[in-house]
Amino acid sequence: MLNITIINGPNLNLLGKREPSVYGNESFDDYLMQLKKDFPQINFSYLQSNIEGELVDAIQKFGFNQDGIILNPAAYTHTSIAIGDAIAAIKTPVIEVHISNVHAREDFRKTSHVSAKVVGSIVGLGLKGYALAAEWFVKNAK
Ligand code: DQA
Repeated sequence: MLNITIINGPNLNLLGKREPSVYGNESFDDYLMQLKKDFPQINFSYLQSNIEGELVDAIQKFGFNQDGIILNPAAYTHTSIAIGDAIAAIKTPVIEVHISNVHAREDFRKTSHVSAKVVGSIVGLGLKGYALAAEWFVKNAK
């Protein structure tokens, strides 16, 4: 079994209700149920927080004992040096996921404190980005 942790940042608890034209109609809980069915070889753990320091704590906590982390830091992507530093500090490889195409939106979303520290980034492919990240870990995890 692969141990993969998904960490979602602020406002992603409102997926399904939040700006559906940008983020879709599906809740993350529903999506995660499907993801678990689609990847029976992965033991997923999941954490969402609206608080920057809790995301840093989670990256530290899971950063030495998992096969991979799938991280969507949401708005903190664009502001948080602490989250970037936390990713640089850990051993577990991280894939950054954004549901929307951040490069096609406001200029402030083009800045990422995360992208340079991760294995790779998946943006703009909707919730499917999490499944693509999981697939990468299945094929490439050491
Ligand atoms: C997001 C993109 C961010 O710019 C935004 O602040 C979010 C969600 C995404 O998944 O598309 O909250 O990370």
